Amino acid sequence: MADRAVKIAPSILSADFSRLGEQVAEAAAGGADYIHMDIMDGHFVPALTFGPMVVKAVRRWTDITLDIHMMVEEPERYVDELAEAGADSLTVHAEAATHLHRVVQQIKDAGMRAGVALNPATPLSTITEVLPNLDLLLVMSVNPGFGGQPFIPASVDKIARARKMLDDAGLATELEVDGGIGPATAGSVAAAGARVLVAGSAVYGNPAGIAAAITGIREAANTA
Ligand code: DX5
Ligand code: ZN
Repeated sequence: MADRAVKIAPSILSADFSRLGEQVAEAAAGGADYIHMDIMDGHFVPALTFGPMVVKAVRRWTDITLDIHMMVEEPERYVDELAEAGADSLTVHAEAATHLHRVVQQIKDAGMRAGVALNPATPLSTITEVLPNLDLLLVMSVNPGFGGQPFIPASVDKIARARKMLDDAGLATELEVDGGIGPATAGSVAAAGARVLVAGSAVYGNPAGIAAAITGIREAANTA
């Protein structure tokens, strides 16, 4: 069995928000490496989710890394507030930030790890200039905005090219994938070089439970 040491990041988008604290604690106890939190603004993506208040509430339930995925226009407006709320890692979309280099620096200055996300239609070349400054690169394998969408197969090749780009540059930037990840897709993205796998519906919608779901995805990632 290949041991690719992937990290699993359950996305609370598919959790039961009436019991959010417990659902986060259960994921952490069940082997989650990060808790992935999707902030949506109703502009960059149609849906509205939550903001720094919920990040602060979740922070009280776990010590593990809070991996914040901002699907928000002008993300610079919320960086400091999210740092104060307890975010560890903050990822903004390249498509949503006019001054991407500046916001990446702002995230780091606020004491967080800085990530950039790319939509399926956005080429990797978009982030060539900021790549050395990133702690995390998020390749979206669905169009952002909703949980439970089918994985876009072309993402595997994009992840492989992102992996090569990072390796060629000698960068330790974490390569994350988000959208349609579950036991059926985890193997191919891990083999292509993804090292953080976000999963929402496959974790919180699994009738076998959160811990079993995390284990199943990890095993699939290591066996393909
Ligand atoms: C989608 C979000 C994802 C979402 C993934 O825009 O960024 O994090 O929760 O959901 P699944 O894993 O169900 O595709
Ligand atoms: Zn996400």
